[in-house]
Amino acid sequence: MPGIDIAVLQKTIEEEIIKINSSQELEAFRLKYLGRKGVIAGLTAAIPTLAKEERATFGQQANAMKNRLLELIAEKEKSFSGQPAATQNQAIDIGMPGIAQQIGRVHPITQVVEEICTIFTRMGFSIVEGPEIETEYNNFTGLNIALEHPSRDAFDTFYLKPQEKGLLLRSHTSPVQIRVMKSCEPPLAVVVPGRVYRPDATDASHLFMFHQIEGFMVDAGIRFSDLKGILETFAKAVFGDDIKMRFRPHFFPFTEPSAEMDISCIICKGKGCSVCGRKGWLEILGSGMIHPNVFEHVGYDSKKYTGFAFGMGIERIAMLKYGITDIRMFCENDLRFLNQF
Ligand code: PHE
Repeated sequence: MPGIDIAVLQKTIEEEIIKINSSQELEAFRLKYLGRKGVIAGLTAAIPTLAKEERATFGQQANAMKNRLLELIAEKEKSFSGQPAATQNQAIDIGMPGIAQQIGRVHPITQVVEEICTIFTRMGFSIVEGPEIETEYNNFTGLNIALEHPSRDAFDTFYLKPQEKGLLLRSHTSPVQIRVMKSCEPPLAVVVPGRVYRPDATDASHLFMFHQIEGFMVDAGIRFSDLKGILETFAKAVFGDDIKMRFRPHFFPFTEPSAEMDISCIICKGKGCSVCGRKGWLEILGSGMIHPNVFEHVGYDSKKYTGFAFGMGIERIAMLKYGITDIRMFCENDLRFLNQF
């Protein structure tokens, strides 16, 4: 065909295809040569205009070139198939902003646990954890909780089957007192963060699973005033130096005397508001001097040693600290809530 040198065309094709780097470019290349108005179609259309004796050879050459093109395109396609789609179709634009990664953060409950544990470790306490599946003995008997105590009732505690095995989900962190005292001799000062379980119906102030921190100190000569001093330091570190505190007599089977500790309401500063139920005081923990019967159960000499213990609910402390009105927010996984901490 006049004006078209098949050998030159062949060379151009081979050079062009080497430079192709994307499926898009390859498609443009395919259309250019194999499309309905492409180069090959042009060649075939020109055949009738050739001299008779040239037609056959020219036709064969055009055909061979078409087959070669198909081969080259197929090879190129294969070389793209291992690449991610994004790089197949477009060159990477390094000026584009990256995909922002959501960085997780520490859950508010964990933050409060860590904060409280740090306050106590600074005062010389060690951190100990215990299992969430406990023995009935450690959860109740060892702690002087009588058989007829209502919390021993199957409806008030998650027992594991078979119930004769005496295993349950601990209803407080106090059983860790038994574990620690059975394995260590005084003097000791320990805090125990952890999950506890009670079959309460869920509402704005109850969950069937929540967190507590237990604390206890045992040695010869530990007095209630030690408990008071330690708890005052703790409460001021968490809620601020200007809070007031008070003890109210209470009953726990494993402490004697027992007391609940209140702090002056951090919202109304003691004047009375809806958070403190117009009382001006907020209950934050239970405490007392460890009952001699508990010492007997762990094999301590109750004539020689005295000690105090306290236990607080973490969710409650976190709610007061941050002004959270519904305890369920802690376990809804709502990022609008969690991102605020
Ligand atoms: N274990 C008690 C509770 O869960 C709290 C407590 C701990 C009270 C230690 C006194 C001493 O209510």
